[in-house]
Amino acid sequence: MSTTLFNDDILGVVLDAGSQNMKAGFAGEPSPRAMVPTTVARFRRDGLTDGIPQIYCGTEAIKKRGISKMVWPVREGMIQNWDEMEKMWHYIFYKELHVPPENSRIMHSVHPLTPKSDKQRMAEILFESFAINGLYLAKSPTLVLNAYGRTSGVVYENGYACSYAAPVFEGFPMKYATVTSPVTGKMLSDRLQNLMFKAGYSFTTPYEIDLIDQIKKDICYISQDYATELTASSGYESKAKYNLPDGQHIMLGQERFLCPEVLFKPELEDLKCRNIIDSICRSIDMCDLEYRPLFYNNIVFSGGTSLTTGLVERVTRELTQILKKNLPDVTLKVDAMEMRKYAAWAGGSMLASFPNLREFWFTKEEYEDVGSERIKFKFF
Ligand SMILES: Nc1ncnc2c1ncn2[C@@H]1O[C@H](COP(=O)(O)OP(=O)(O)OP(=O)(O)O)[C@@H](O)[C@H]1O
Ligand SMILES: [Mg+2]
Repeated sequence: MSTTLFNDDILGVVLDAGSQNMKAGFAGEPSPRAMVPTTVARFRRDGLTDGIPQIYCGTEAIKKRGISKMVWPVREGMIQNWDEMEKMWHYIFYKELHVPPENSRIMHSVHPLTPKSDKQRMAEILFESFAINGLYLAKSPTLVLNAYGRTSGVVYENGYACSYAAPVFEGFPMKYATVTSPVTGKMLSDRLQNLMFKAGYSFTTPYEIDLIDQIKKDICYISQDYATELTASSGYESKAKYNLPDGQHIMLGQERFLCPEVLFKPELEDLKCRNIIDSICRSIDMCDLEYRPLFYNNIVFSGGTSLTTGLVERVTRELTQILKKNLPDVTLKVDAMEMRKYAAWAGGSMLASFPNLREFWFTKEEYEDVGSERIKFKFF
């Protein structure tokens, strides 16, 4: 165990690599310094680019996407392309945080179902290529609960490509009770693109697809009474005007709530999976009976898609009805903090600043002594 890990000259760096956005910053700070697209761009053609870099990452990559091949190294919350991920880490250290990695210790979030082999590989790259001083791999749901000031509860996470309900007891995520869903932020954006196409608006270029994402964030919402609103909102008068950056505008009506309704009705996309309510209930049902009151009393939201207007209200209402009928003695409490888009990062920031957790860190000395195998026992 290293006693130097918490010295002033070793910076605590906190990373949450999402399928769409990488959140990066310093331990103890309330918000990440950088939230950049988790992407690496390489010029499609060689030869024309003498003297300028061939690789761009993050925001710089997005600017070059017209002339580049883009790789998104994280898919469904897990690292899939290790070479490009290494480029991304390099970019974060040197271009975003301006920290030499050899002067840092890293708190890195991981998806709750990340295999051990992936964690080992993360350790190998971060210790060997970046010479970091210490590593702490923490499962996202634990970090999210930490951000809410708790150690037990159920995290409903929905970002760009991950959607799951994950119970955590005393800081330990219950892997066997994690219920995943294919209804993610990306799916909602694709669905809005189709709905808008049917309404006469064809948005297909990368720039237009970014616009769809923005339209979704700005004007889509969860209906609180879907059946009534569906019949009441078919006329032109119920349409909302949305101004586009080029000065034109579009008019959207039912599309605004039909899009995210798929969270509650996956059958709208021909999906045979649990809806958000059933996912939460199923994950709690898979745990011991005695935990039910605790879990229903501590449901928290995280990830960008959980910011969808009206989501928290509708989930609370539907879960209240279910509990009233099936578990009348159990109290429901659903919480959604404003900064939930980066709740995992914020929880990591808090955890990484606790010196009393120093024995949980995997230090450079330990890595050099026993190698990455130790990861299995350190971060299970
Ligand atoms: N206000 C909002 N309303 C609805 N959706 C939103 C809002 N803000 C962001 N999103 C959606 O959240 C998603 C990005 O969320 P987030 O940054 O949590 O994902 P990620 O961490 O990169 O991916 P993942 O955790 O799934 O691997 C995008 O699909 C985006 O459209
Ligand atoms: Mg995420």
